[in-house]
Amino acid sequence: MTTPLSTQCLSCQETGIQLAKLLLQSGEVVGVPTETVYGLAADATNPEAVQRIYAAKGRPAHNPLIVHLPASWGNLTKLIDLGFVDGLRLGKQERELAASLMQKFWPGPLTLILPRGPALPASVAAGLPTLGFRVPQHEGFLRLLESCQLPLAAPSANLSNRISPTEAAHVLAELSGRIPLVLDGGVARVGLESTIVAIEEGGALRILRFGGLSPEDLNRAGGQLLYSPEPEAIRRIEAPGMMAEHYAPRKPTFLLEGGDSETIGKRICAVVPLKELAVLSFGQATRLPQSLLDLKFTLLRRELPIESKAAAQLLFKTLRECDQSSVDAIVVVLPEDSDHELWPAIKDRLTRASARWRQAKP
Ligand code: TXA
Ligand code: MG
Repeated sequence: MTTPLSTQCLSCQETGIQLAKLLLQSGEVVGVPTETVYGLAADATNPEAVQRIYAAKGRPAHNPLIVHLPASWGNLTKLIDLGFVDGLRLGKQERELAASLMQKFWPGPLTLILPRGPALPASVAAGLPTLGFRVPQHEGFLRLLESCQLPLAAPSANLSNRISPTEAAHVLAELSGRIPLVLDGGVARVGLESTIVAIEEGGALRILRFGGLSPEDLNRAGGQLLYSPEPEAIRRIEAPGMMAEHYAPRKPTFLLEGGDSETIGKRICAVVPLKELAVLSFGQATRLPQSLLDLKFTLLRRELPIESKAAAQLLFKTLRECDQSSVDAIVVVLPEDSDHELWPAIKDRLTRASARWRQAKP
């Protein structure tokens, strides 16, 4: 067993940034703030540093990482010059689209999947010939990136498959003793991970993961939008279903969408002996289904805003709080009209958070 590290938490100001820079340059991992969720960063050019990310998170080696770039590197020509992107494997149309997406949405919650160039090791992409890149929109993290002059690989800073962290305290709660430093850059503004997009031959955009950049925003960028309900990359790299559970609380979690309201009460009872149930809903007008009200449990009601961006910002934090409370299970009631803006992303996270319990039959 390795000796636990003592984990420091410093504000994302000059002193913290300087220490983070030294640690990153010497191959260590550091918890960093971004506008989406907190990340666990390491030098993407250093295979041993990349290995430390996988070890700290307990992440399966076949799940590739996203590489974060300083704003001054956030254009296609520079990425090709640096050897991070293999320009030869991009056609003219794909190049133009990639360049225009970078210009429109970076810095911001958009990860672009591009052909991996020779200057980045295969391990950062879990052996895939492609790699995800983004320029984050968090001032402190951008200063750190600029100061290091390194591409930083960073998955969300949670234990593998668990709820993503949106505050420094969430990172400490899970990774304390496993990493030397967390930079505290405040509450993550978006609250959900970036939207991951691959550019298909011919210039269509395939959304591999819904996230902080809405499909409507992407649409405005031109290019035909295609959707993969399950991230395609995950289907390619995983046995079917293996990655279905993700972003998950430890407590049994159920997602309630229109149709199953009659059976939800029985389904929950089939899984856990219940005394206390957290019910998370969106907006004040939500009426709980009778089958839930019929259960004579203590209900911990939590309401999130009905506006999707505001709801997204609070989602993981609220799930985390419910998970840490004394409830025996969590039910999330989705609003009826959840196809727009950040709702597809919220729905994706909740579907995965509840994946393990979906099979439970009354
Ligand atoms: O907002 C975010 O994207 C956050 C912050 C820290 O930037 N990062 C994040 O990383 O969410 P992570 O590791 O939790 O999720 C990365 C996702 C994984 O689902 C992975 O499968 C996918 O990106 N991914 C990475 N490289 C890929 C590739 N070459 N092709 C397809 N998917 C890829
Ligand atoms: Mg993650």
